[in-house]
Amino acid sequence: MRMVDIIERKRMGTPNTQEEIKFVIDGYVNGDIPDYQVSAWLMAIYFQGMDDDEAFFLTKAMLYSGDIIDLSQIDGVKVDKHSTGGVGDKTTLVLGPLVASVGAKLAKLSGRGLGHTGGTLDKMESVPGLRIDIEEEKFIKQVNEINMAVAGQTKKIVPADKLLYALRDVTGTVPSIPLIASSIMSKKLASGADVICLDVKIGDGAFMKTLEDAEELSRIMVSIGKSFGKKVTAFITNMDQPLGFAVGNRLEVKEVVDTLNGKGPDDLVELCEDIASYMIYYARKADSIEAAKALAHDQLNNGKAYEKFLEFTKAQGANDVDYNNFIQVKDVDSYLATETGYIKEIKALNIGLASMKLGGGRETKEDDIDPNVGIVLTKKVGDYVKKGDVLLDIYRNTELTKEIVSLLDDAYIIVSEEIKTPKTIQKIIN
Ligand code: URA
Repeated sequence: MRMVDIIERKRMGTPNTQEEIKFVIDGYVNGDIPDYQVSAWLMAIYFQGMDDDEAFFLTKAMLYSGDIIDLSQIDGVKVDKHSTGGVGDKTTLVLGPLVASVGAKLAKLSGRGLGHTGGTLDKMESVPGLRIDIEEEKFIKQVNEINMAVAGQTKKIVPADKLLYALRDVTGTVPSIPLIASSIMSKKLASGADVICLDVKIGDGAFMKTLEDAEELSRIMVSIGKSFGKKVTAFITNMDQPLGFAVGNRLEVKEVVDTLNGKGPDDLVELCEDIASYMIYYARKADSIEAAKALAHDQLNNGKAYEKFLEFTKAQGANDVDYNNFIQVKDVDSYLATETGYIKEIKALNIGLASMKLGGGRETKEDDIDPNVGIVLTKKVGDYVKKGDVLLDIYRNTELTKEIVSLLDDAYIIVSEEIKTPKTIQKIIN
């Protein structure tokens, strides 16, 4: 088999075979096929796309390039979730304790944040004492004992994705839907769960900008998951404004704690209850999606989900944390509305970037972050505001730069006609 023939076939629109795709992935990981040939192949995929079989073969070849976590020692149905990345997205830390509190098993490997999006690991590490580097044996034991564990992804999972993603990043081939689908699904499948819920974000702060693209990505990911015998559901959700009110690691953890005590923002609660309902139903802890949703709602309001959060954080090293007093900043400034009217848009991208510039996120992988800083919205899309009302609070330990203020100035669109509160979940695909 010759790499140049595989590239030419793809360039002409002929689907690559399973053997060809495996040849490319194995050859690239082993160092036998050079970057320039794989780059040409990726660009051909970018323009020609891939059919469902090819996306499945690519996912399979990537999946078997590294370790697959063996969760067979955990009793019961294992559930997992993945978000394509958003601003203020603290869903995992609500959803995990919520579904674990009714007996579903969540064994989750998470990642860090980069750029305007945050990562679950950074939010966890902002809690004093909370550890994310758990040995596999302890990880499995913890899930068997308390139904949940969240740890950092090991380097041994899908090494092909690390290499390919780095190449896509410098060859303009990141935004190819089948390449994104295979990248996400290979990592999810390597994590070993039986049930996978995918939160596919659309809008300003997201990878997918339109509903059509998000539907196509969801459809392919669900199809790949089914080919591996998994139950996969994709939720297409709104990222036209940050999720919840808080953006920034400790601020988000505080919002998680409030949500687990029945005092969460409407959009975050709606999203968590809806995703939880599918996880709980597929884990056979309720007889229908509706019954599972009612159960999820109860657990957020009867203290059980919060009890599980405390059990989970204690098992991973955090004890007696005073969540009411753990945010330490020098200053909190209010940012005020310059117009009167209804909020039509709060650009998630700008809010995420402003939080990053305050030190709450990473511009490059090597950057340190300040867990205390960030932004707390006081109004959301659809709210009526008067000139001079507070739109958000800025938690900071450094100077407020012109750059941050101008990101915030550009974040808001305020109009005179009434704006409806947007739906958080746009579509469910399974
Ligand atoms: N997230 C991933 O894990 N991979 C992609 O290709 C894009 C987003």
